[in-house]
Amino acid sequence: MSARLPEFPAGFTFGVSTSAYQIEGATSEDGRRPSIWDTFTRTPGTVVDGSTGDVACDHYHRYAEDVELLAGLGVGAYRFSIAWPRVQPDGTGPANPDGLDFYDRLVDALLDRGIDPVATLFHWDLPQALEDRGGWLARDTAGRFADYASLVAGRLGDRVKLWITLNEPFVHMSFGYGLGVHAPGRQQLFDAFPVAHHQLLGHGLAVTALRALTTSPIGITNNYSPVRLQGSTDDDRAAGAAYDALHNRLFTDPILGRGYPEIPGTDPSIVHASDLDTIAAPIDALGVNYYNPTGVRAPTDPDSPLPFDLVPLDGYPTTSFGWPVDPDGLHELLTGLHREYGDNLPPIHITEGGCSYEDTIDADGRCDDPERVAYLDGHLRALHRAMADGVDVRGYYVWSLLDNFEWAEGFTKRFGLVHVDFDTQARTPKTSYAWYHDLISGQA
Ligand code: BGC
Ligand code: BGC
Repeated sequence: MSARLPEFPAGFTFGVSTSAYQIEGATSEDGRRPSIWDTFTRTPGTVVDGSTGDVACDHYHRYAEDVELLAGLGVGAYRFSIAWPRVQPDGTGPANPDGLDFYDRLVDALLDRGIDPVATLFHWDLPQALEDRGGWLARDTAGRFADYASLVAGRLGDRVKLWITLNEPFVHMSFGYGLGVHAPGRQQLFDAFPVAHHQLLGHGLAVTALRALTTSPIGITNNYSPVRLQGSTDDDRAAGAAYDALHNRLFTDPILGRGYPEIPGTDPSIVHASDLDTIAAPIDALGVNYYNPTGVRAPTDPDSPLPFDLVPLDGYPTTSFGWPVDPDGLHELLTGLHREYGDNLPPIHITEGGCSYEDTIDADGRCDDPERVAYLDGHLRALHRAMADGVDVRGYYVWSLLDNFEWAEGFTKRFGLVHVDFDTQARTPKTSYAWYHDLISGQA
């Protein structure tokens, strides 16, 4: 990019992010048992290219090489997720020591290279045995999650520098249980609300469990998407408010002590007396994932089961996913959170941001991705402006270190700073990798 990025405050963390099922492979090694994603990817028609995470980036075996890639980037922190079905293969009972050993080795390799380990405890790979008992629709799963969190922190609590309980509970609820386009593939629309409540309850119980085993900061990562109204009637405004409540407030209001926003069609009786206090256990960090804004208007079909229509936004460049590129959306989102929650807002960590493009290796063996450089440059400038406007943001983590298994899109969407050839597992740093490296070293 042309002009140098403005300087970020000393102590600001530049990092990268990944998740277990998307990179590890080795899905049946060392005692790991199936997760809902192992089951889902084996169901015909669920993943566009018919692929699975069985091998993915083979990171389970190649983690040492990947830690060298992190060291070469010069990142201050690496956000990864821990696979529950490795640590507690059926979601209950004692820990599987071999599963914990893998993360123990990874954490030590990171610390050896001066990189802070940031661990997410749940990035959508629920043990299948728990799904068989209702998954997150069952209240019991919240307690199981807290037990699992204790097993992990019992082993890694002295070395992980930042804990994230859940990744994007909104996307897991809506895609996994509402629409069925992600595992576990249930299509319950608003009857999926218990998945929100039980994830939040699991989060709150896990925060309390982790406090006993670590002094590091603890938070949760939500996905946020500013609503761009595509219409100006009262119905459009009502649709926008309904979508905003679901995507942006359902998982933030109760955590920050405000209880639930009004969500149409949900059954409040599953919320027991002390649940809201449990969910509002104080946190030290709010993880924010931002990719794009969302176009919303009133449903055109009067029989629509949803109180809004989601519509593509005109006038923005798009990624290969078709997602609009809008750095201002990040500024809007951050200043909006700051305005809305005021002193109750914990320090923010942008735990994901990034883009997919059709990156290829050229004849010289190089992978040039100028669009990704432009995307990151624009979003970091927007972030810097939000910080200048008073928002307390502590770090930015690019999604992702590696091209990886992009859920229902399989291997067809590349988000990495490093290109991965999924036939040979060859890793090729892209132009954006060199750019991020220079940015980080220039800030030091
Ligand atoms: C994006 C959404 C996307 C979802 C699923 C989110 O981070 O903001 O637009 O549909 O991820 O991958
Ligand atoms: C998720 C990642 C995913 C990324 C791009 C986020 O919704 O946390 O797992 O790969 O967006 O879709």
